[in-house]
Amino acid sequence: MTLAVDDIVDRCSAALTEHTPALAVRDVLDELVAAPEALDHALGPVTFGGITTLHNADDLTILRVAWTPGMALNPHEHRMWAVIGMYGGQEDNAFYRRAERGLEPAGGRELPAGDVLVLGDDVIHSVANSRREFAVALHVYGGDFFSVPRSEWDFETFEERPRDFEHTRRLFEAANARWREQA
Ligand SMILES: [Fe+2]
Repeated sequence: MTLAVDDIVDRCSAALTEHTPALAVRDVLDELVAAPEALDHALGPVTFGGITTLHNADDLTILRVAWTPGMALNPHEHRMWAVIGMYGGQEDNAFYRRAERGLEPAGGRELPAGDVLVLGDDVIHSVANSRREFAVALHVYGGDFFSVPRSEWDFETFEERPRDFEHTRRLFEAANARWREQA
């Protein structure tokens, strides 16, 4: 049977009823990213970097995120659990702790295609795509990703500010323009 967006939403919604939803979603994503061709078929090929919303409700948000080659997104928090399932390229995660002034680094994790990462609701991370191909993943969040107020931090100064989706959109736009010039 061909995989459809509805199947992805149904399976993640069902996972919310489990005792530990984030881990149940991880199991779902483990299976989905093991068949990247089926995801490509269901979601369409990636030709530029950006965020595609597959589902957005109070208790669950599902995104397809494609990081443009060379792109980096500044540190941010989600204030809800998140599960990232890579199915193309690689996403480099850097983690941070709140410090007396701004943030301090707290390790990192490279996430190649086929890997699934669970993030607790207090995680602060930045992401980068250092490869010359799109880094493509399903991002599943245990809440309304777009409406919950939260913070992001400047990459250089680590100054805290409210999460700014317009800033993120401009980062994608600039990275896509640079990539198109090179391609
Ligand atoms: Fe994030």
